[in-house]
Amino acid sequence: MNLSIRLFVAFAIIPTLLQACIGDVYLPAKTRVRIFNSLPGGVTLTVHCQSKDDDLGFHQIPPNGSWEFVFTTNIEGTTLFFCNMQWSDQSHYFDVYTEKRDYDRCNNVCPWYVRPSGPCFNNTDCENWNS
Ligand SMILES: *[C@@H]1O[C@H](CO)[C@@H](O)[C@H](O)[C@H]1NC(C)=O
Ligand SMILES: *[C@@H]1O[C@H](CO)[C@@H](O)[C@H](O)[C@H]1NC(C)=O
Repeated sequence: MNLSIRLFVAFAIIPTLLQACIGDVYLPAKTRVRIFNSLPGGVTLTVHCQSKDDDLGFHQIPPNGSWEFVFTTNIEGTTLFFCNMQWSDQSHYFDVYTEKRDYDRCNNVCPWYVRPSGPCFNNTDCENWNS
């Protein structure tokens, strides 16, 4: 086998073996969360996202606009980013990235379309606010 095939086989097999031995495996992956303002009425969405270690500050997303941030997931599978989202007289919290829920479905890009009832993953799978 040439080197690239060997490397491919190694990288394909090692995670599978690890998974068999220790359960779910979360290889560190550069991941992008993109938040779209899909609120009606032309309102600005203010988001404030944080993890245990990072405070990403306040960002104003214009009607139909978006904002994104990029991070690297941890191998323990504990990466969590949550956001406060505010518009008009509304203020809600939502976990925009939890590794166990999102590692597979995001596959490096997590698009959230924010509607009044809650954010919708990829504009299809709508979730409720945490609070
Ligand atoms: C946002 O998009 C919706 C649906 O495409 C459209 O009806 C609305 O006019 C847009 N609003 C702005 C401010 O561009
Ligand atoms: C989002 O939906 C489009 C089709 O509507 C699909 O091609 C794409 O893979 C989806 N992305 C994610 C991250 O699920």
